[in-house]
Amino acid sequence: MEKREQLYEGKAKKVFATDDPDIVIVDYKDDATAFNGEKKGTIVGKGVVNNRMTNHVFRLLEKEGVPTHYIEELSDRETAVKKVQIVPLEVIIRNIAAGSFSKRLGVPEGKKFRQPTIEFSYKNDELGDPLINSYFALALELATEEEIETIKRYAFRVNEVLKAYFLQADIELVDFKIEFGRFKGQIILADEISPDTCRLWDVHTHEKLDKDRFRRDLGNVEEAYQEVFKRLGLD
Ligand code: TMP
Ligand code: ASP
Repeated sequence: MEKREQLYEGKAKKVFATDDPDIVIVDYKDDATAFNGEKKGTIVGKGVVNNRMTNHVFRLLEKEGVPTHYIEELSDRETAVKKVQIVPLEVIIRNIAAGSFSKRLGVPEGKKFRQPTIEFSYKNDELGDPLINSYFALALELATEEEIETIKRYAFRVNEVLKAYFLQADIELVDFKIEFGRFKGQIILADEISPDTCRLWDVHTHEKLDKDRFRRDLGNVEEAYQEVFKRLGLD
């Protein structure tokens, strides 16, 4: 497979064409942003952690019946993936109150839910990724009813698999954001699953081991990414 021209540069990754029209290469950067790009920084080593962790998790999810865009890890920062059309929805699952849920609803961070929640944001930077529901997604023609049902089913399955996966590393999966794409008519998991896109707390101390350390200026940002990497046995 041959790496060709850059197709796109996002906040955390670049995407390159290949000689195969169905395959692109993602290249993970150390750049970090928060609050829709208002806050910018660098987290040294993040690209490697996010690339290798995403790939490991995606291989696990494939085995557990969730189709993903993953094809092959090419280097510490580069991975070949299926070229999907991204469904412009950020799908968020929560097991424990935190972040915007706590702020919006006045629930203290750390309150465990009896059942996980699901929510959708419309992926649109100009609008600041507004919270919507599945009826809005249909009205905006972001996905079909069948696609939304598939997305919900996969999202809860991802949660069940990942909760158990992180727990064996003494990490609590508080919440996470995932994205899906269409490939040859099928919905598959795309984008990444990493400390950028999950809230991960130490089971015992509740220490934050994710991007909230950057968002909230808590310090030891690089160390937190490396700690997750090490606990998952990926270093
Ligand atoms: P929130 O509490 O700020 O809504 O975030 C919920 C989860 O989604 C959390 O794990 C962080 C992740 N997330 C992203 O991956 N990208 C984003 O742009 C935002 C706002 C949150
Ligand atoms: N999507 C947010 C931004 O770039 C990142 C985040 O808070 O996770 O700015």
